[in-house]
Amino acid sequence: MDLTYSDISYEALNTPVEDWRSLFNYMRENQLKTLFDAGAGHALSAQVAEAEFQDIKVYAYEIVSERIKDLDLPNQVVKCSDLFKDEIPKCDITFIYLPTGPLLERVLSQLTSGSVIAAIESHGDLFDRLDESAKLLKTIKLSAKRHHPKMKIYRWTKAKKSLKTQLRDLSFTDTYEQIHIREEDPILGETIWSADIKGVTVTSDDYVETLTPPRRFELNKILKITPPESIELIEKRRHEQFRKIFIKPYGIIEDKFGQRHFL
Ligand SMILES: C[S@@+](CC[C@H](N)C(=O)[O-])C[C@H]1O[C@@H](n2cnc3c(N)ncnc32)[C@H](O)[C@@H]1O
Repeated sequence: MDLTYSDISYEALNTPVEDWRSLFNYMRENQLKTLFDAGAGHALSAQVAEAEFQDIKVYAYEIVSERIKDLDLPNQVVKCSDLFKDEIPKCDITFIYLPTGPLLERVLSQLTSGSVIAAIESHGDLFDRLDESAKLLKTIKLSAKRHHPKMKIYRWTKAKKSLKTQLRDLSFTDTYEQIHIREEDPILGETIWSADIKGVTVTSDDYVETLTPPRRFELNKILKITPPESIELIEKRRHEQFRKIFIKPYGIIEDKFGQRHFL
């Protein structure tokens, strides 16, 4: 998945000026002074604050440097940053217009209980994800013609530890840890196969979407999180040399043509 949206229009990528004004007015009404724009696109957030809301400071972090390199906004913090690597700044409000998945989880994992989030959803299930772990405080009508016509303001609460939170917390790390999944196979019968936790997305309706191999299954099919059987095999699967590794009833790998070979 291309999280930088290299193919979409400026309008689809960026929250419009009018909607930034609405959010900054909400911030003023609630004495919120600093905003972190997580994946800032062309940093319209910082541009609007600089021009019209001098009492608000925006921290706009964006991975695509071309989108922000020509901006000269002395009172804002506009930074080329990879949110998979860098820490987020501590701000009064964190603005999120990102898809669900490891990047979002990494941002959320750095928020403390009580943090305020402003979120926009075009498609996907960002609101469902936030509804799981945050309390809705307010909705703000948007001017943009998006799939969802409202911006939502939430108060974040850290979720209790569970298999779901463990998977989400490992999804953005460089781990080789594996999940073991139980599945009825038409040929092998009852099987257990393994998948990478790195890159995993757990949906709000309890489905797991793995990147390697690319599969979707119910959360309750997971038997355990476990150290890797063989890093070499896992690397090969990440490089698409084959698709699936079966642990039971035998060690088997499935190649990209669907053919199976004993290990
Ligand atoms: C949908 S746009 C939202 C832009 C802006 N927040 C707004 O609402 O106007 C998401 C932005 O996140 C950026 N992004 C994706 N992955 C990132 C990463 N790892 N670190 C920082 N930014 C990232 C994308 O390049 C894109 O510009």
